[in-house]
Amino acid sequence: MKKAILSVSFGTTHLDTLERTIAAIEGDLAAAFPERDFARAFTSSMVRRRLREREGISIDSPEEALERLREKGYQDVVVQSTHVMNGEEWEKLVREAAPYRGRFASLSFGSPLLTEAGDYQAAAKALLERLSEAEAGSAVVFMGHGTEHHANAVYALLEYILHDRGRRDIHIGTVEGYPGFAEVCRRLEEQGDVKRVLLLPLMIVAGDHAKNDLAGEDADSWRAMLARRGYEVTCRLEGLGENPAVREIFVEHAKKAAGERE
Ligand code: CO
Repeated sequence: MKKAILSVSFGTTHLDTLERTIAAIEGDLAAAFPERDFARAFTSSMVRRRLREREGISIDSPEEALERLREKGYQDVVVQSTHVMNGEEWEKLVREAAPYRGRFASLSFGSPLLTEAGDYQAAAKALLERLSEAEAGSAVVFMGHGTEHHANAVYALLEYILHDRGRRDIHIGTVEGYPGFAEVCRRLEEQGDVKRVLLLPLMIVAGDHAKNDLAGEDADSWRAMLARRGYEVTCRLEGLGENPAVREIFVEHAKKAAGERE
């Protein structure tokens, strides 16, 4: 029986971070499933269009990828999402893939990064591995994406766990949702006596939002706005996909989906 693993990401138009994050996750997935052929899809139609127009790179939507696998005679497909949350993009993926359920002998789905309770503990541990110990006068701010979708609650739970692990110097805000920049500023004031802020993206890729909204030269980037408030800001433009322990969570989800855990 021909078997495949299909990695499904939001995507990014920034080829440097694409290589370091999404491609790194894909590499780990491919290595974990040597008996499966590897395929890639991006859920963002905007990203796919821009990659085609500007870079001449053609990437399948999940639907196109599944259709291609079916035509090539694959019968057992594991679809692994590399999204952070069970939000809109994940729901879109499941919706698009639904008609293919009956067209493969087996079609299973590996869940996004933050799904079950254990995922949050694993993700918190992965984040802490990349940070130095808490220091007086210093804080760490993560910029998540944020959404109107109810999955937006992931940020609050992840922050709770980080605080529970003794890291009350870590604050999570989002660029497009709640909590936002204002809430992050309030947390920094509440922490008290903060002079230095380490600013990092809480997104799989360090793409547009990380380069512009987080670290950009414009006056309204978080870096600039925190600097104006008197903080000494350091940005680390590292996507979550660059963290091996984060990639391991996706591999575990794929193994679970493939029923290979036992
Ligand atoms: Co956005």
